Amino acid sequence: MRYYGCKAKLLDFLSEGVVKTGINHSSVFCDLFSGTTVVARHFKKKGYTVYANDFLEFSYSLARAYIKNNIYPHFSGLKNVIFGVNGHPVENLNLVIDYLNKLYPIKDFIFNNYCPGGTKELDYPRKYFTDENGMKIDSIRTRIQRWKDENIISEDEFYILLTSLIEAIPYVANISGNYAAYLKEWDPRALKPITLKAPIIFESKRKNNAFKEDANILIKKIGCDILYLDPPYNTRQYAPNYFLLELVAEGWFGDIKPKIYGKTGMRAYQNQKSVYSQKNTVMNAFENLIKNANTRFILLSYNDEGLMSENEILSVLLSRGKVQIFKRPYRRYRSINQNESDRRTVFETLYFVKV
Ligand SMILES: C[S@@+](CC[C@H](N)C(=O)[O-])C[C@H]1O[C@@H](n2cnc3c(N)ncnc32)[C@H](O)[C@@H]1O
Repeated sequence: MRYYGCKAKLLDFLSEGVVKTGINHSSVFCDLFSGTTVVARHFKKKGYTVYANDFLEFSYSLARAYIKNNIYPHFSGLKNVIFGVNGHPVENLNLVIDYLNKLYPIKDFIFNNYCPGGTKELDYPRKYFTDENGMKIDSIRTRIQRWKDENIISEDEFYILLTSLIEAIPYVANISGNYAAYLKEWDPRALKPITLKAPIIFESKRKNNAFKEDANILIKKIGCDILYLDPPYNTRQYAPNYFLLELVAEGWFGDIKPKIYGKTGMRAYQNQKSVYSQKNTVMNAFENLIKNANTRFILLSYNDEGLMSENEILSVLLSRGKVQIFKRPYRRYRSINQNESDRRTVFETLYFVKV
């Protein structure tokens, strides 16, 4: 998934850092700002017990599906609804996904607020999704919710299906990288029909867990062996930039629809403003986090364009132990309306602390 600060291309760099801990695979690895969960998934695959946390709802859905959930569930409650759902769990999941892909489109919250057909009365009709894709998102989201409310699917099954919908959205959203604005003209990607894919589940016998809490609150309640920190680097808040994923993750219930405002149909995000994205609050929050960390090793990802300087970070980390620094050049995230010259190389830094 395209996501600011996603570490998909830096997993080997992080792994090198984790190898330096000398800690074996049965230990607890906590990804406290897990975003897309790629890092948490990587270490779950390696056999660690993994905790994934982020205060965004869409990220929590991914963490429930990929991290906390350890098996392909049977979807047996759907065997009277979908023909053939009584075989191998992987095949059952594929049948359910196929069923959702073929649902009849309906007009509901997404069509009415984020598609040109549903917003034609506005001065600027919104073009986040084609009418067809908006209606398909509506029918899939509504159906998954109904199955959950009727107890036909379990919580694990619900989050697996919700995750497949969340992960399909970026492929057809008419945006240039984030959801703060839509493109005036249709990007060819957005014209393709939305298609859900079955999430790949990493089977594990460990007590992996998913949380949706403020990092500074959760840190006081958990202990781990390796604490991986990947907080926001700059003033760009995640909640408004990914608000459409949040809306789909949270859902809407009958006549009760989420409150949205402005030209783009933004959702309120007062409770999801990150202290790590504000210059006047970041140092205090970071100090507090590090002070309360109950762990044997701390790994912090940050880059040289961040709100905290290297010296500021070091002054905090040194209070907990010896610090080593590893740097790797990294090409910065680029949205499609930026040109190549905006894309200077930045250094991704990994701070390693033996507590
Ligand atoms: C740099 S991104 C993490 C990217 C992630 N490592 C990945 O590879 O996808 C930072 C994440 O921190 C989350 N976040 C920001 N402030 C937070 C807080 N106070 N508590 C919990 N999560 C927070 C954001 O929602 C965002 O997903």
